Amino acid sequence: MRIASRFRGLLAGFAVLAASAGLAAAQDYPTRPITMIVPFAAGGPTDVIARIVSENMSKTLGQTIVIENVVGAGGTTGATRAMRAAPDGYTIIMGHMGTHAASVALYPNLAYKPDADFEPIGLVAGTPILILAKKDFPAKDLKEFVAYVKANADKLNLAHAGVGSVSFTTCLLLNSLLNVKPTSIPYQGTGPSMNALVAGQVDYMCDQIVNAVPQIKGGTIKAYAIGTAERNPSPPDVPTTKEAGLPEFQASAWNALFAPKGTPKPVLDKLSAALDKALNDEGVRKRLLDLGSDIPGPDRRGQAALASLVKSEIAKWSPIIKASGAAN
Ligand code: MLT
Repeated sequence: MRIASRFRGLLAGFAVLAASAGLAAAQDYPTRPITMIVPFAAGGPTDVIARIVSENMSKTLGQTIVIENVVGAGGTTGATRAMRAAPDGYTIIMGHMGTHAASVALYPNLAYKPDADFEPIGLVAGTPILILAKKDFPAKDLKEFVAYVKANADKLNLAHAGVGSVSFTTCLLLNSLLNVKPTSIPYQGTGPSMNALVAGQVDYMCDQIVNAVPQIKGGTIKAYAIGTAERNPSPPDVPTTKEAGLPEFQASAWNALFAPKGTPKPVLDKLSAALDKALNDEGVRKRLLDLGSDIPGPDRRGQAALASLVKSEIAKWSPIIKASGAAN
């Protein structure tokens, strides 16, 4: 009996030691560089937003944040990698409406549950969606675009960043509204697919505003409408879908930071605080706003707000995807 109780005592001692070691590690966090997984190719909207905020966050945290582009499967490859990473705060992911909401309905065997296998750190930016086409697309406005696509869908190529991506999901909504099924060309991100659109190799795309604004300003593509209730000041001349005659197309995405489930709360709190500071930094705000993104106010920031956003977005996009037939 004495041995058993001594053994139990030793075990309890080890447990206390382990807990206090974990607590000490969390309190000292971060003591080495942090990896931020971007689940799409460099140069796309997720990558651009990740680099803008991580630059500022690394100053606050006192450690380099290394961007790692882990591409494939509409962002779910990178999200799966992040979910499986050690929950120590040294691997986080810039996810979004695709990886952490739409993918649930698009991938019946998705390796992760966005609302259970991650710890929310915080919402980073809202990103309205625009209907874009190559520069010489034969339509001068959205009404002509809709008519042309309906009449020629079998000859048209649509670009996106893979099944489950924002560009895939939002154009799924557009194509189901138009009742068309063009050829869809997947890329490793909408950085590369935007290059193809600018080169005229594909015909149209639904993309996040942060990726579209530089091309609209450069006159290299056509932007027919923005899927939000109000116009956006960055491309002020792009009409809303309501103004342009397709009010049913309402589409906005968002980017947010997540950590693997089990990441200690003190570590999450340091990451959330560093993100909050970045979103209050004038330089960061100017870069994000100039690209047309929407910076969340205090009520939409933080871990609890992101946790409820993920749940509501899964609930919002799942029926849209199922109705489109893409999930069958
Ligand atoms: C998407 O979901 O379309 C991604 O945002 C594309 C990207 O960031 O490259």
